[in-house]
Amino acid sequence: MAQTGNFKSPARMSSLGQGAAPASAGAVTGGKPREEGLKGVNFERRGFLHKVVGGVGAIVAVSTLYPVVKYIIPPAKKVKIVNELTVPASEVPDGKGKIFQFNEDKVIVVNSGGSLTAVSAVCTHLGCLVNWVDADKQYFCPCHGAKYQRNGEIISGPQPLPLKQYSARIEGDSIIISKA
Ligand code: FES
Repeated sequence: MAQTGNFKSPARMSSLGQGAAPASAGAVTGGKPREEGLKGVNFERRGFLHKVVGGVGAIVAVSTLYPVVKYIIPPAKKVKIVNELTVPASEVPDGKGKIFQFNEDKVIVVNSGGSLTAVSAVCTHLGCLVNWVDADKQYFCPCHGAKYQRNGEIISGPQPLPLKQYSARIEGDSIIISKA
């Protein structure tokens, strides 16, 4: 059913004797002029609240994402670079080889008949660690069968390069490992 008139029209209000003044142009609901209605709004306060809410949101986002990113991208290991590494001689008995962390490399020190040698233990094929096989007087890579001589030169296998050579010497009860 179509509405035939405005219930709050000035004519109707005056005819009802309610005394309501007609709304002026620009009035807002509730009877206040638009300018007066906006007077109560503190725009500085509203802007401040937006900034606070945005800041809190940013903090929550960062605190949530930071551990995830740290998990995905582990921190780089800080290796202390030294010229020499001293280890107890008793750790490499005759006929054995032992791997030590030396700077950013892993070095295998071999004691064979009282003679010491040291080469990188990292196979130049795909990076597995080699073992010393004293019976054969050679290094053997368990991953794909690479074989190296005692000085690191290639015997056979898929590896493209020899093992990097290091120096190892006895001083008292210690073995001193250094660059060759
Ligand atoms: S990683 Fe050593 S032979 Fe493949």
